[in-house]
Amino acid sequence: MKLSLCFTSLFVGSAAAWSTITMKTEGSSRRDVFRSVLGGGAVAAVAAATSVEKANAYAVPDLPYPFEALEPYIDTPTMKIHHDKHHATYVANINKATEGKDGAEAPILDLMENALEAGPAYRNSGGGHYNHAFFWDEMAPPDEAKKTKASDQLQALIDKSFGSTDEMKAKFEAMAAPGATFGSGWVWVCVNQAGDELKVVNTANQDNPLMKGVLAEGVMFPILGLDVWEHAYYLKYQNRRPEYVSNWWNVVNWSKVSDNCAYVVEKHAGVNVKG
Ligand SMILES: [Fe+2]
Repeated sequence: MKLSLCFTSLFVGSAAAWSTITMKTEGSSRRDVFRSVLGGGAVAAVAAATSVEKANAYAVPDLPYPFEALEPYIDTPTMKIHHDKHHATYVANINKATEGKDGAEAPILDLMENALEAGPAYRNSGGGHYNHAFFWDEMAPPDEAKKTKASDQLQALIDKSFGSTDEMKAKFEAMAAPGATFGSGWVWVCVNQAGDELKVVNTANQDNPLMKGVLAEGVMFPILGLDVWEHAYYLKYQNRRPEYVSNWWNVVNWSKVSDNCAYVVEKHAGVNVKG
């Protein structure tokens, strides 16, 4: 395969070239690098080369803060296990499911809309990867988080949709309670399809509002999400999920949530995530 050899020697065989590209695109996956360097058609050709398929695998993104940074609200052992074990397992399994398949190079966001049709691996492991990558990025150490605030655009949507931030939080906490989200799942603040209202919704397991067929209202675009699986809180909070939920507001990065809001309102699409 001349094409494969050509790209392999140009992009993979050259450690120096690869190193340069990687350094210039810190925070982007190798998949993003190939997309930006080569364009869509060439990406598909490159994906056919075995050596590049491995480079295109999904990856657990680094946390944007140290494991201990969210103390005392989210404890260090939970963060380590959650990120390095739970998230890593979702990534390993979606890589297995997509290996060698058409579209294996697609950003994980692109797999969300049709994940239910694509099958359990896409729904559970693909969803698990997207949800956790989204979750890590919307949090910040408490000292930083408390300095952040909702943008004018986000605050206007909160006020219009819920009356006030406190009322939104109350609705969110009620939805996150075990009686409303029984067992494992997520609670989200989403922008509706029209882009003019926020909704608080929950999803089971690793489903999310981007997946067609999950919400009765149809696809919506998350700007904030909370993992309420026991693995997210049990070491510190045991059965006290409501305490975990109310404490979690202390590590929400409202600047990031505002950015998410601006993006989905403009694009009518989900937020892309790292990894
Ligand atoms: Fe989780």
